[in-house]
Amino acid sequence: MTLFTRVAETQRESIVFSLDGHAATALAGDTILTAVLTQADRLRLSEFSHRPRAGFCLIGACQDCWMHTEDGQPVRACSTEIQNGMRLLSSIPGGVDE
Ligand code: FES
Repeated sequence: MTLFTRVAETQRESIVFSLDGHAATALAGDTILTAVLTQADRLRLSEFSHRPRAGFCLIGACQDCWMHTEDGQPVRACSTEIQNGMRLLSSIPGGVDE
C-alpha cells in the first residue's frame, strides 16, 4: 500500500534511490516525501513511539518528516528534493526501533 498516488506530471525524468536498502524510483523534482509515499505507507517510524509517521504539515513547519540517509545525515522529507542515488532510511540508525 502507498499513501500517495501520482496523478499528474508523470512524464518527468525517472530517477533511482533506495529506501531501507530496497531499490525505488521517483521522478526528478519530487520531494523526498513524495518519492517515499508513492512507494510506501509511511515515511519513518517515530524514534519515541515506534509508530509510523508520514509527515503532517507538508510545508516544513511541523518537523514530523525527518528521515536519515544511510550515512547518517538528517533530511526533512517535505522540503528536500530527492536526488538520483540517494540512500534513505525510514528509522534512525541506533534508535529504539533498530
Ligand atoms: S511534514 Fe511538516 S515539516 Fe515536513
